[in-house]
Amino acid sequence: MSEITLDLRGLDKSRAYAELDGHVRAVLDGVDDPITAMSTVSSLVHHAFAHLWTGFYRVVAPGLLRVGPYQGTLGCLEIPFGKGVCGTAAAEERTVIVADVSAFPGHISCDGRSRSEIVLPVKDRRGVLVSVFDVDSERVAAFDAADERGLLQILGWFASR
Ligand code: SME
Repeated sequence: MSEITLDLRGLDKSRAYAELDGHVRAVLDGVDDPITAMSTVSSLVHHAFAHLWTGFYRVVAPGLLRVGPYQGTLGCLEIPFGKGVCGTAAAEERTVIVADVSAFPGHISCDGRSRSEIVLPVKDRRGVLVSVFDVDSERVAAFDAADERGLLQILGWFASR
C-alpha cells in the first residue's frame, strides 16, 4: 500500500499534509539514504498537489547550491547563496514564500509558467543546513503558512536520521 502515489488536491491543506507525512514516513521506513529520501519526498509532494516543480537544491560547497532530486522541467544546475528565492532561503536559513515571482527581485526563472513558490531550509540532526526544498506553482499565491507547517513536518525526516 505504501508504494501508492497519492492525489490530495481535494483535501484541505492541513489534512492533506497529515496524510502525506504519514505516507512519506511509511514509504521511507527503514531507509537511511538522503538521496532516496529526497527523490521520494519530491515525487510524493509533487504529485499530491500537482505542482509545477518540486525538488531539492543541495549545499555542495560553502555558499553554493546544486540541484538534487526533483520533479518537473529542467531546473538550473547551480545557485549561489543569496541569489533568487532558493539562494535567499539558504543564506538566511528561513522559509521564503513568494506570492508573485514577478515581484521578487532576482527571481531565477527556470520555467516561465512559475507564478509563486515556497522554499524551505532543510537541516540535518546537528542543525546544519544541508539543502533547500523548492516548490513552484503555476498559480499566484499558491502557498501559505499551512504549506510551511506541512512541509516542515515532512522535511523533519532529514533531521531525524
Ligand atoms: N525559482 C528558483 C530557481 C529554481 S527553479 O525554479 C527550479 C529561485 O528563484 O530560486
